[in-house]
Formats: sequence, structure tokens, C-alpha cells
Amino acid sequence: MTDTIRLIYGKKEYEFPVFEGSEGEKAIDISQLRSTTGLITLDPGYANTGSCTSSITFMDGEKGILRYRGIPVEELAENATFKETTYLLINGRLPNRQELTRFSVRLNDNSLVHEDLRAFYENFPRSSHPMGILSAMVNALKSFYPVLDNLEEEINITVTRLLSKIRTMAAMSYKISRGHKVVYPRPDLAYCANFLNMMFDSPVKPYEIDSDVVNAVRVFWILHADHEQNCSTSAVRLVGSARVNLYAAISAGIAALWGPLHGGANQAVIEMLSDIAKNRNMGKAIERAKDKNDPFRLMGFGHRVYKTYDPRAKIMKKMCDTLLNKLKISDPLLDIAKELEEVALKDDYFIEHSLYPNVDFYSGIVLRAIGIPTNMFTVMFAIGRLPGWVAQWKESLDDPNWKLGRPRQIYIGPTQTQFVPVDKR
Ligand code: ACO
Repeated sequence: MTDTIRLIYGKKEYEFPVFEGSEGEKAIDISQLRSTTGLITLDPGYANTGSCTSSITFMDGEKGILRYRGIPVEELAENATFKETTYLLINGRLPNRQELTRFSVRLNDNSLVHEDLRAFYENFPRSSHPMGILSAMVNALKSFYPVLDNLEEEINITVTRLLSKIRTMAAMSYKISRGHKVVYPRPDLAYCANFLNMMFDSPVKPYEIDSDVVNAVRVFWILHADHEQNCSTSAVRLVGSARVNLYAAISAGIAALWGPLHGGANQAVIEMLSDIAKNRNMGKAIERAKDKNDPFRLMGFGHRVYKTYDPRAKIMKKMCDTLLNKLKISDPLLDIAKELEEVALKDDYFIEHSLYPNVDFYSGIVLRAIGIPTNMFTVMFAIGRLPGWVAQWKESLDDPNWKLGRPRQIYIGPTQTQFVPVDKR
């Protein structure tokens, strides 16, 4: 029997169905709330609102579970390539060998960016943040590629272009920002290695591809590949719900991810750890984070959904140790991060607020070890998150219950007020 919720409002009683997902999560279906009662719900930050049903990613914030299409992220990080994970998210299942080969060929064929785009890059001020550049350039892609008549093929080619070109564009912005020669994609290299080569190869110092570094990028991107209805994904869905083109919707996602409370946290963590290292002020940072009157927060700590250790942070922490050991790097920020985590996890404030390290806490140290500059950290996150954004956008296209995203509000401004001409004000 379907559960129902009874709402008593005034002298009337209303019933609303309870919707249950495949993992037992329950929601009150209020789609008829306003038309039957005249009421709307008020839920700042949408913390209690399900904006859609989805079969892409499952997460349980209390148990620390994250699965893509049912497969635990730990298993994917252990066994899958980023390309397979991308295919899984977008198509709903892992590819067979033939499908994977075909997917690789298509990605390779679409890896170059239009030469005219270089002029855009070269004209951004040198101090521009790479996330701002990436968001603008992804949006600009729309103007460079003709729209195909066949809708399905148009969607497929747009998705492939984005997945492939985003690496080239990210590496290109890095090279141009340094005043270095742009390195083109190589067909003989796999997805992650190809990106690293475009970032770091130079005519005077050929880049030696290190399998441990390639593996770290692979795991980093798999861990970031999707995270259900987070801020940037919701931005992609909301913007996409106006039936805007995919480039524009992804550009909106990149802009949302830039924020320090979201993807920008990986950069903010390194800045915070560096400040602690420089000023030896860990105690002060903890005290500031607990102070209600101070906007400072411990970056890389806390999550809207996880009220336990973020499963991605566990993998990232382990990988951080392994990678630094293999590369024989000693990063003082890793010691500070571990000490900060230990102190915070014993502190009543962090215990009571269920604040644990999130994915961004250790990821910056991994990226530093690879040689990624700090201002490119969030770009790395964006490349990893792209398959998730695309999968969510595609799912919303096919959703029979799809609607233009348009929340309501409760107005609290002045009631009707008469206009006063300027000389009488
Ligand atoms: N440091 C100190 N206090 C914190 C932190 C933190 N990092 N995070 C949350 N809190 C406190 C808040 O002050 C608040 O305290 P109160 O209830 O006593 O007023 C309480 O915990 C709840 O905080 P909210 O902001 O309401 O929780 P929300 O679920 O909206 O926050 C968020 C989630 C934004 C991620 C928050 O934990 C945060 O700002 N963390 C730091 C930034 C960060 O690491 N972001 C990356 C998140 S992962 C990602 O997006 C990829």
C-alpha cells in the first residue's frame, strides 16, 4: 500500500502521496500542494526538497555511501578507467569492449579545439581565474560548431565534444597563461595521460608520463564524476530546464562550481593550510571556525549531505599518502592537514555539528604533488564533474515529468505603495 501524508490546514484535511525510491528514501509528493491548498513550501537552500527523481547517483550521508548507477565509488576507483566511469554515468551501464573502443575513437576525433578559440584565450588578462575563462570558453564553443538536424546525433556529438575538448581547453589556458607553447592532444595517449601531457610537455623538457601520476588523476576524476543534486549540478539542470543548449548549461555549472563553498573549496583548503604553515596558527583557525561571529570556516570540512566521513575523502587521503610516498615528496601541508583533522575530530564543536573532512580536504595536496597550480584545482574538479553534469542534463531531457525550473517565493517587501514624483520625494 502506498503511504500517504495527511495535512490539516484550517478546517480541511488533505492527503499527499509518499514516493519511495529504490533505496528506501521517502518523499512527500507535494506537486498538487498549491493547487489543492493554496500553500507553497518554504525551504531555504532546498535542504528538504527533492528537485527530481534520478537513477544516476545514490548517496547516503549518514552511512557515507556513494554509488554511480549502483556501483560503489570505491570499486570504480579501484578498477575502472575514467572513460568507463563517464560512459557508465551517461549511458546507465558499463560499456563492453567494442563500445569502449568506439567511445575512445570519438573522444580522440573531437579532442582538438577550433584554432580561432586561441585568440579568445590570448586576450584574457593574465590574472584571470581559469574557472572564469573555462566557463566563458565552454559557452563560446556553441558559436563554433554547426547544429545538426538529427537531434539525437546533435546531442551525442555535443556531449563527446565537451568531454574531449574540456581537457584540451583546460591545458591550453594553463599554457597560454604561462606564455608557453600550446601542446596538442595525442591520439596514442589515453584520456588522463593525454591531459597531463598537454599540461606539462614542453619543447625543452619532454614530459615523462608517470603511471602513478596518471593513476592519481584517474582516481581524482572518478571521485568527482557525480554527486547527485549538488549546487553546480542543480545549476546545470535549472539552466538546462529552459531548454538552453548544453554548452550554456555546462558553463553555468562551471560558474557555480567556482564558489569556495562548493568546488572552489579545494583551492581554499590549500590557501588555509599554507596560512597555518606560515603563521603557525592552527589553534586560532580552529577557534575562528567555531566562533559564530566570525565568517571563517574550516575549509574542506562539512557537507550538506554527509554527516559522517565523506567516502571520497577516505580514498583521497589514502591516495595522497601513497602518491607522495611513491613520488618521494614530503609536503608539510599534508602533515598540517592530518594534524588539523585529528584536532578537529576530537573537538566537541565539530563532533556536535557532524563536521568531517570532505573530498576537498586532501585533494589539493594530491594535485600539488602532480604539479597542478593552485588556481587550476577547481578546473580539475570541473573536468571530473563534467560526465555527471552531462548525465544529469540528459536524464532531465528524457524525464516525462520534466518542467521548467521555477521556484516560488514568499514576498516580504512593501505592500502596494504609490509612486512619488522625484521633486516630491
Ligand atoms: N567550519 C566550521 N563550522 C562549520 C563548517 C566548517 N567548515 N561547516 C558547517 N559549519 C557549521 C555552521 O557554522 C553551522 O553552525 P550552527 O548550526 O551552529 O550555526 C552548521 O555547521 C551547519 O552549517 P550550514 O552552513 O548550515 O550547513 P550546510 O549543510 O549548508 O553547509 C557546507 C555545507 C557549505 C559545505 C559547509 O559545511 C561549509 O561551508 N564547509 C566549508 C567549505 C567546504 O569545504 N566546501 C566544500 C563542500 S564539498 C563540495 O562542494 C565539493
